[in-house]
Amino acid sequence: MAGADDAGQITIWDQMISADGDISMPSVDYRKDWSAIGTWAITGDEGTVTGQHVVYTQPETVEAFRATGKFPDGAVLVKELLNAESAHMTTGQAAWATDVSGWFVMIKDSTNRYASSGLWGNGWGWAYFDKSDRVNTTTKSFRGECLGCHVPARKTDWIYTKAYPALTGK
Ligand code: HEC
Repeated sequence: MAGADDAGQITIWDQMISADGDISMPSVDYRKDWSAIGTWAITGDEGTVTGQHVVYTQPETVEAFRATGKFPDGAVLVKELLNAESAHMTTGQAAWATDVSGWFVMIKDSTNRYASSGLWGNGWGWAYFDKSDRVNTTTKSFRGECLGCHVPARKTDWIYTKAYPALTGK
């Protein structure tokens, strides 16, 4: 959704996706140039926040979703996994992110372009990256490694949209 050139190619895909559908992290500075659409706080058994998941997308995807209620072809979602610490502060008990441990990435594909790749299907490309390697995903099969956990979000195009007020306007 970073715009399409004359051949109808979605420009960000040139960098993120190889000819046979292998996925890399977007090279853009998503923290500066993309929209943070929502944050999850991950708590340990005692309720202490031990991690945060911050989800980013292109500003064009925010605009398109607000207009249509759907993710446009070429939408990219980056879920940044952060470790967190917490302490009693002047506001009360508060947690803050410390450092990145990895990323989950999804790329909207409305036309099933890479049917033979194990990273693509159900309308999306799916990949995980450890913080040590932004180029090569460790994911081999989205069906085995991703899809099962996203079944509860099936009715919202496999995305947990209830947590993204920037998209839904809530
Ligand atoms: C253990 C279950 C589980 C697995 C495995 C899993 N996910 Fe998720 N995913 C979730 C849940 C639950 C959320 C939202 C809550 C959170 O982040 O804690 C989420 C959120 C996301 C998001 C943010 C957008 C959204 O759907 O809300 C992306 C992107 C994502 N996952 C991609 C992936 C990819 C790619 C894989 C496989 C490589 C994968 N996930 C595997 C459970 C899972």
